[in-house]
Amino acid sequence: MQPIKRWDYAGEGLDEHDLPAAPLALVEQWVQDAVDRQAAKGDVPEPDAISVATVDDAGQPHVRTVLMRYLGPDGPGFYTNYTSRKGLDLEINPNIAAALTWPPMFRAIRFVGVAHKMPVERSEAYFRSRPYGSRIGAWASHQSQPAATRAQLEEAVASYERKWPDTGSGEGVPLPDFWGGYVVRCDELEFWAGRSSRLHDRLVYVRTGDGDLADAGSWRIERRQP
Ligand SMILES: Cc1cc2nc3c(=O)[nH]c(=O)nc-3n(C[C@H](O)[C@H](O)[C@H](O)COP(=O)(O)O)c2cc1C
Repeated sequence: MQPIKRWDYAGEGLDEHDLPAAPLALVEQWVQDAVDRQAAKGDVPEPDAISVATVDDAGQPHVRTVLMRYLGPDGPGFYTNYTSRKGLDLEINPNIAAALTWPPMFRAIRFVGVAHKMPVERSEAYFRSRPYGSRIGAWASHQSQPAATRAQLEEAVASYERKWPDTGSGEGVPLPDFWGGYVVRCDELEFWAGRSSRLHDRLVYVRTGDGDLADAGSWRIERRQP
């Protein structure tokens, strides 16, 4: 272990009075702030990187990083292989937790909720926005399965490239039926803002109604100790 370097978390903090009644606008604002920070200082290279935790049939949690490629009133979302570890976990237990973390900004958002498969049209639209190589990669990778060698994966890529040659646009490579998005219907969202002496601000939206992340009547806000 390196000698411990202790940073004082001199963040801006977060005050109850600055919070909207519904959480969506604040999630959007913090994501935009991270995007702007990357543009200005270059120290948040993947502002959308989000840790996603699922639990398998033995109760064992698994966590991995994906990209939050969707954010709407129905929740944050990401795209993946439905037969991956996370996909199989969610099939038997849709409970999910996720966290966006921006260390240079002393900020994080945690989401707790239930994952739902996105409508296929939405997955289709996103898949169509991906470059050719990423589309072929989705077909070639049996995500989370053992792979004997790297060469095996490259051969799978080559065979799909023969099947759907690169025309320059990626059009023609269809959406695999085992690939798509999940959206997280949140029951709780925590906004964490680092402050000095570990006395951080933690403000949590807790679901009180059936509305979405933009519905002011469906949330109460609770401060938690750091
Ligand atoms: C920065 C970053 C972004 C990633 N984005 C995605 C993604 O959007 N979708 C995805 O399926 N995997 C993504 N991955 C790979 C996952 O972390 C993980 O290895 C993969 O999804 C398999 O996870 P699983 O076996 O737990 O299902 C990303 C990894 C990193 C480090």
